[in-house]
Amino acid sequence: MNYEYKNVILKVDNVSLKLGKNQILKDVNVEIRDVVRPGYTTGQIIGFLAPSGMGKTKFFECLAGIRKPDTGTILIGEDLQPTKIGRVGVVQQNYPLFMNKTVYGNMRVAASGFKNKTERNDRIDDVLTKFGLVDKKGFYPAQLSGGQKQRAAIAQQILCANNFLLMDEPFSGLDVNMIKEVSDLIKEVAHMHELNTIIIVSHDIHSTVAISDTIWMMGRDRTADTNNIIPGAKIKYKYNLMERDLAWKDNVETHPEFNKLINEIKGEFPTL
Ligand SMILES: Nc1ncnc2c1ncn2[C@@H]1O[C@H](COP(=O)(O)OP(=O)(O)OP(=O)(O)O)[C@@H](O)[C@H]1O
Ligand SMILES: [Mg+2]
Repeated sequence: MNYEYKNVILKVDNVSLKLGKNQILKDVNVEIRDVVRPGYTTGQIIGFLAPSGMGKTKFFECLAGIRKPDTGTILIGEDLQPTKIGRVGVVQQNYPLFMNKTVYGNMRVAASGFKNKTERNDRIDDVLTKFGLVDKKGFYPAQLSGGQKQRAAIAQQILCANNFLLMDEPFSGLDVNMIKEVSDLIKEVAHMHELNTIIIVSHDIHSTVAISDTIWMMGRDRTADTNNIIPGAKIKYKYNLMERDLAWKDNVETHPEFNKLINEIKGEFPTL
């Protein structure tokens, strides 16, 4: 497949985190470059996979600027500035919305960065149309279905973020149809703009591999002599799905290489 790597847009250098006596992350290093495909607007979907309890959410919080790691740096965006709250869109587990505000009210909060009122309202209308939520404008979150709530939460983050969208376990608690719907939506959002980058943190190997262009596996090292676990998650493996011809494909699950990759990952991480 014809593609090219351009500028670095996310750089994680030696990030470590301890909570109490617990070493959660140890020397996490990640570098992500913009990917360009001639003739296409190609955003990017990056999946971070690891078994439950490995430290994905804590790492996610560091990427989002919600949590400061003990050591290391995280630079994000075309201009590679330190991450901080508000620089990236964050969709946390369970898709939180302001419960006392309508869908429209939630969008307005998210779009408060727009100085021009007409521009802001146009942008909100545009996003609500794209996400099929126009007729739900006046509804409160409690009056929405799970899928609608999810779409509203993603729409909200698209309004306030510039290109980067982080999602923690976007598939958890969803049935098969909803997983397909959310996956399609994530792909659509990724390819709306060349620099759009969606980072998914998940333990759902199948859904994550199906929509990602690159997979970063997190895990722990073991001591050579006694085979004991060394505390602290780091990046253990990286899989480039573009190289394997598994990126930008409809029904990628039916591709023989897809199952090969799933089995390869499961071979390394039987608990996934
Ligand atoms: N305040 C704390 N003090 C010490 N350890 C903590 C604290 N909070 C969380 N942990 C530990 O941090 C580890 C990583 O938690 P995290 O929520 O990041 O895991 P996760 O990979 O996102 O798991 P899941 O897939 O279940 O969401 C867990 O093993 C947890 O026990
Ligand atoms: Mg988690």
